[in-house]
Parts: sequence; structure tokens; C-alpha cells
Amino acid sequence: DFFATVATKSDSGALRGDYTHADANYVVAQNWDAYTPEQHELWRKLYQRQAKLIPGRACDVFIESLKALDVSQGIPRFDRTTEALYKATGWQLVAVPGLVPDHTFFDHLANRRFPVTVWLREPHEFDYIVEPDVFHDFFGHVPLLFNPIFANHLQEYGKGGLKALKLDGLASLARLYWYTIEFGLIQSPEGLRIYGAGILSSGGEVEYCLTNPQPRRIPFELERVMRTLYKIDSYQETYFVIKDFEQLFSDTAPDFTPLYERLKTQEVLAAHTLLLGEINLPPA
Ligand code: PHE
Ligand code: FE
Repeated sequence: DFFATVATKSDSGALRGDYTHADANYVVAQNWDAYTPEQHELWRKLYQRQAKLIPGRACDVFIESLKALDVSQGIPRFDRTTEALYKATGWQLVAVPGLVPDHTFFDHLANRRFPVTVWLREPHEFDYIVEPDVFHDFFGHVPLLFNPIFANHLQEYGKGGLKALKLDGLASLARLYWYTIEFGLIQSPEGLRIYGAGILSSGGEVEYCLTNPQPRRIPFELERVMRTLYKIDSYQETYFVIKDFEQLFSDTAPDFTPLYERLKTQEVLAAHTLLLGEINLPPA
């Protein structure tokens, strides 16, 4: 999960997770039988808290896919989800020990494989965790993979990541991921909704991002997003709002090569920036 690849780069500590059995692509066996009853119970509590928060706040595809996934009772078996997911959009889940190198992460996405961390947070991390665990990766990210347009977009993002590594564009591309896949908002006929996994797996930010008057809610604009720095240790100061997943797909489809060049000459923007003439949408 890139969320934390980016987030933990500032920390110097060793990676959390057992990498000794990982293959060359950092894939491991999920080893579902090794989860304890206490861990399944913690998953249930995390699930229940989030499930209560999401009606009327998460986008429809998230709510519907989550229901169909039927994972309220304990840590899911990845292979079962893969069966359904593969039929729906051709994606597979792969188990990973934790953070994986950028190149590995992008390569998985480019091949329609979504890496899911195998370990679950400890009870004292119920409200807040820095690295993504199985709850964030699965609950936050997997439901959206059932939407064909979003699924296609994420594969293109993976291909774009491999390209960005060659073009020195990683920092800009990471901001795009952050403000969309992790912290994105989307319009719906009934009002603003959440599709970002970092919000959807958070106990506090689900409500905050929609109704708190403090953060900015700015219509998505590709270049603007890719210039904008982000906070990793607090709620976001700015959310970017897409019209629909089609916009996300088509706005990111052009070749980024000239964009990366242009971005190198531009100043980055602080997370709270509101540019002259820019729309700040009212809270829900
Ligand atoms: N179009 C981008 C490029 O040419 C790739 C990309 C697609 C990046 C989708 C992000 C999301 O580099
Ligand atoms: Fe994530």
C-alpha cells in the first residue's frame, strides 16, 4: 500500500511485518488459520464502527460492494474475495507482509493485483495507525475494486507509477494517489460522498471530511492536485472532489511526460492553499 510507503518514508524505523517468507514480488501466504480469535474480534469491532459511519457518507459502490463482500464477522480470506473480484473486474488480491518497494507496488497494480497487508493492528491502535494494516488495505481499498472504471484507473495508475520512476515524477504522482485513492471525495446526486480508503478506514475522518467547516473541498484539477503537499499525521487540510470515476480515469489518461517537466518548474503548494478564483465547496 502506497499510502504508507509515502507516509513512513519520514520515519527511520524498521518495517513492520515478517518479510522472511516473501517471494521476489513480496507476496506471502495469507496464513488465515494463524489469526487468533482475539484478532477476529478486533476486526469485528473495527468493522462495526466503520459500518455505522458510512451510510450516506461513502459512495454507493463502496457500500454495495462491502455488503456483498460479507466480511463483518472476521478477518476475510483473501482467496475467497479474489474469486468474486476476479469475476467482477479481473483483479486479484495478493497477501504481502507490509509495505513493499514502489516498483513492486506499481508492478502489482499494473497487473491488476492489489497487495493487502496480512497483519492486523494491535488493540491500542484501534483509533489510529501509521502503517496500513489488513483493515485499512481490505476494508478501505477492496470494495472500490469492484467498480470497473475505478479498477481500470488503478491499473493505469500502476503503469503510470512504473513510468514515473523513470521520469523522476514519483513525488507528483504520489500526491495524486494521496488526494484521490486515499483521501478523495466524489459528487453524487444526493451530495458529497467519500471514496478515499484513508478516510473510509478512519474512525474520525469519515464525518470530519464531509461536515467540518475547516478543511477545503476543491473540485479536482489534475495539475493542481499534483502540486499540492499533504499532511500524513493529521486530518487533511484539503480534499479534492471528482465528479465521477470517469473523470478520474479520463483526466489522468494523457501522457504525463510533459506534465512532469512542467511540475519541476513550479512551486509546490502548502496543503491548506486556496488559489485565487478557486471554488471551496460548502460542507455537507
Ligand atoms: N497517464 C499517465 C502517464 O502517462 C499514467 C497514469 C494513469 C497516471 C492513471 C495516473 C493515473 O504517465
Ligand atoms: Fe491505502
